[in-house]
Amino acid sequence: MMKQKTTSKARAKTVSKPRLLVLHGPNLNLLGEREPQHYGEVTLEDINLALARRAEMAGVELESFQSNHEGALIERIHAARTQEVRYIILNPAAWTHTGVAVRDALAATGIPFVEVHLSNIHAREAFRQHSFFSDIALGVISGLGHQGYLLALEYLLNKLNTD
Ligand code: DQA
Repeated sequence: MMKQKTTSKARAKTVSKPRLLVLHGPNLNLLGEREPQHYGEVTLEDINLALARRAEMAGVELESFQSNHEGALIERIHAARTQEVRYIILNPAAWTHTGVAVRDALAATGIPFVEVHLSNIHAREAFRQHSFFSDIALGVISGLGHQGYLLALEYLLNKLNTD
C-alpha cells in the first residue's frame, strides 16, 4: 500500500487562518472630516489599513465593513455565523444608543465582540451614555481615539493565542 505523505507546505494550506471582523456603524465613513474635536482626524480607510497590517503580521484574516444601513450591518453579522468569524470589533456609532436589532443579531450569533468608541461616550451628552451593547461585550474601549481599534485588536490577538 502506498503511504501518503503530507508535506508541511500542504498542511499549512489546509489550516485556515483565524478570522476577525471589524464592523463600523453609521457616519463613520466620514471620519477625518466629521466633528474632529470628537472623532479625530484619522480616516476610516487609515484605521482599516492599520488593522489589516497588524492582523497580517499576526497571521490572522481580518475584514472591515462599514454601513449606514442597520439592515446591512445585521445581514453582515448573520453571515459571520457561517464564516467561522472568531471575534468581532464593533463601533456601533449612533446605534450604540438605539440599536436593539443590532444587539439582538450579535446575541443570536453568539460571536464574542469588543465594543469600541473613538470618543469617551461617558463624558458626552446624557443620551450617549447608555449603550445597548456593553453588557454583552467582552469589553469596551471608549475615548482613546483611533488607537482604541488597535488596542482591541491587540487584545483579541492575545486571546486567539491563549484560546
Ligand atoms: C461613537 C460615539 C457615538 O455616540 C456616535 O453616535 C458615533 C461615534 C464614537 O466612536 O465615539 O457616531 O460611537
